[in-house]
Amino acid sequence: MTEEIVKTALSKVMYPGFTKDIVTFGFVKDINIDGSAVSFTVDITSNAPEVADEIKKEATKALASAGATAINCHIQAPVIPKESSSQGKNIAPQVKNFLMVSSGKGGVGKSTSSVNIAVALAAQGLKVGLLDADIYGPNIPRMMGLNGVKPEVTSNKVMPLKAYGIEMMSMGALMDEGQALIWRGSMIMKAIEQFLRDILWSELDCLVIDMPPGTGDAQLTLAQSVPVTAGLTVTTPQSVSLDDSRRSLSMFKKLDIPIAGIIENMSGFIAPDTGVEYDIFGKGTSQPMADEYDTKIIAEIPIEPAIRTGGDEGVPIVFSNPTCESSKRFIAAAASVWATIEEINANGGVDNKGVQPTTPPGVSACSTGAAPEPKKEASSDESCGTGCGCH
Ligand SMILES: Nc1ncnc2c1ncn2[C@@H]1O[C@H](COP(=O)(O)OP(=O)(O)OP(=O)(O)O)[C@@H](O)[C@H]1O
Ligand SMILES: [Mg+2]
Repeated sequence: MTEEIVKTALSKVMYPGFTKDIVTFGFVKDINIDGSAVSFTVDITSNAPEVADEIKKEATKALASAGATAINCHIQAPVIPKESSSQGKNIAPQVKNFLMVSSGKGGVGKSTSSVNIAVALAAQGLKVGLLDADIYGPNIPRMMGLNGVKPEVTSNKVMPLKAYGIEMMSMGALMDEGQALIWRGSMIMKAIEQFLRDILWSELDCLVIDMPPGTGDAQLTLAQSVPVTAGLTVTTPQSVSLDDSRRSLSMFKKLDIPIAGIIENMSGFIAPDTGVEYDIFGKGTSQPMADEYDTKIIAEIPIEPAIRTGGDEGVPIVFSNPTCESSKRFIAAAASVWATIEEINANGGVDNKGVQPTTPPGVSACSTGAAPEPKKEASSDESCGTGCGCH
């Protein structure tokens, strides 16, 4: 028995309901031959059990007539995404889950992590969107290879751009390259709302949201506009970054956002020539902080030149080299985040009722003279906590 014979036999198996066979579709993978014993995987796009059963039956028949004596056909179907059971205000109801990627400090690798986690989630078979909520410093278009690409606008609604099977929107795609933005808090709040309401996002399993650094208006507005299913904090191992990351974790708690974990980025250095890992900024220093907030470090991502070039060249490392060490860690982190999201939904989801503003969206409680109610201290250091966008 040879691979050629196996493929020829399997090319007689039509995908149910189509005139094309499973080999031509590219669904047959991992063929293993041992004498006349054959094992293989058929990676299908349907969850219907009758499709799996029929392919298995027809494939077994075709291989038996080609002379195989033992046949092991493994059918791999996509993960069925769990519906979100979240409640409260949701201005983007077609999105089932929202993942907020935050950090206390700038430049620690939020955008890099957001892009690679999004690509890894999509590779799991999930329908994923990526929103670049960093209004001042939108880097996602470059990192997704979409720099300079303009979206289609139809009657005041904007189509998201697409790359690597992911829908994406960013202020960078809406304004001219290199243009500086000087915005007040209330304008940031409006921009975030429009990103959720006026972009034609599909029915997404998960929208990954890359936040600007800090704990300000953008984070608060997002939490008030949609029930954020989980929050992910990105930090580097130095103490100065950890101090700021504590603020980010504390913000999740105050905004009633369950914490999906911490990514410790720039944790060690992998030399590109030898593959040897060196400790530069320290490693594993985030563990006490994870314990303090009852969460876990879901990945230690080393400094690796290929991560930076992947970002600069618009080809995320998880896509270009999914088997390298950093990609494996991003992929494991994405799997952990998704498991947390499923668990949150299984336990009733999230509710953002407790963080709603005391003034209408976009209206500053400070500028209207309304006394801010001490309802909920929403963003610890930088805002008055009423959702007014006064800082
Ligand atoms: N693990 C890594 N190894 C090598 N380079 C990295 C790594 N993580 C991030 N970088 C690079 O560091 C720079 C900053 O990363 P990134 O833009 O993702 O940070 P950020 O937290 O989103 O920054 P900002 O706060 O400005 O939005 C980028 O050039 C990125 O390619
Ligand atoms: Mg960024």
